[in-house]
Amino acid sequence: MDLGIQDRVAFVTGAAGGIGARAAEMLAEEGALVAIGDINPDAAEAEAARLRDTGFTAIAVQVDVASAASVDQAVAAVSQALAPVDILVNNAGFTRDKRIGRMEESDWDSVVDVVLKGAFLCTKSVLPGMIEKKWGRIVNISSRAYLGNPGQANYSSAKAGLLGLTRSMALENGRYNITVNAVAPGIIDTAAVRNLPHFEKIRTNAEASLPLPRLGRVEDVAAAIVFLASEQAGYITGDVVHVSGGRYG
Ligand SMILES: NC(=O)c1ccc[n+]([C@@H]2O[C@H](COP(=O)([O-])OP(=O)(O)OC[C@H]3O[C@@H](n4cnc5c(N)ncnc54)[C@H](O)[C@@H]3O)[C@@H](O)[C@H]2O)c1
Repeated sequence: MDLGIQDRVAFVTGAAGGIGARAAEMLAEEGALVAIGDINPDAAEAEAARLRDTGFTAIAVQVDVASAASVDQAVAAVSQALAPVDILVNNAGFTRDKRIGRMEESDWDSVVDVVLKGAFLCTKSVLPGMIEKKWGRIVNISSRAYLGNPGQANYSSAKAGLLGLTRSMALENGRYNITVNAVAPGIIDTAAVRNLPHFEKIRTNAEASLPLPRLGRVEDVAAAIVFLASEQAGYITGDVVHVSGGRYG
């Protein structure tokens, strides 16, 4: 199936590693011109260079998604180097896990600012260009944690909020042929997850209890992102695709 995104410009945030990097690579494999956005410029450049070495068109753009000025600057840089953004993947995010009693205001703000405000700022910045072209795809990377997780009040709230943003943006922008969807991954085997002290327990639990008995792979999530970003997904909007091995609770 031709996904119909040849030469579309894709801006993936937090794409220097993990899920975002694989999503950017798979978008490039489908012919998209990709911008690797990340707060870490060296890692972003290394990832863009890796894609260019494979023959793809890829640039690195430093961005702090929690800053409106930084986001607007990055979106303008993508537009100048490639063309206005057609596909936005709001992927930047991290955890700062603590039970609520020990959670500092800064733990709350840092996670909510990057995950939720970051997606708002990036969406706001790319929308005028998409509206002008009457074509756009926005994919927000939520998490199964939107359903609630002990120790993750900040992360869970931000990821749940992202679904509200997804629905609202889908309702506002359908008339411009812009779709807005979310992907909610379960536990995915990334460096961030492997570095957790109880990684082995997480892996064993997944193998013992999930309907699909393994941890997720970055490819599993990236494939869902790429499909939602495609021409072929043009009649799907405001939806959430769970990539969680069958775990919903
Ligand atoms: N790995 C999982 O199990 C899992 C599960 C559910 C959801 N997710 C979500 O998927 C996304 C990617 O996760 P990952 O596991 O690949 O993580 P990762 O740490 O490999 O990648 C996240 C990237 O975001 C970048 N980043 C952090 N703050 C930023 C900022 N302010 N501006 C721009 N970039 C910033 C980091 O530098 C990093 O490269 C995140 O939103 C995460 O919450 C991951």
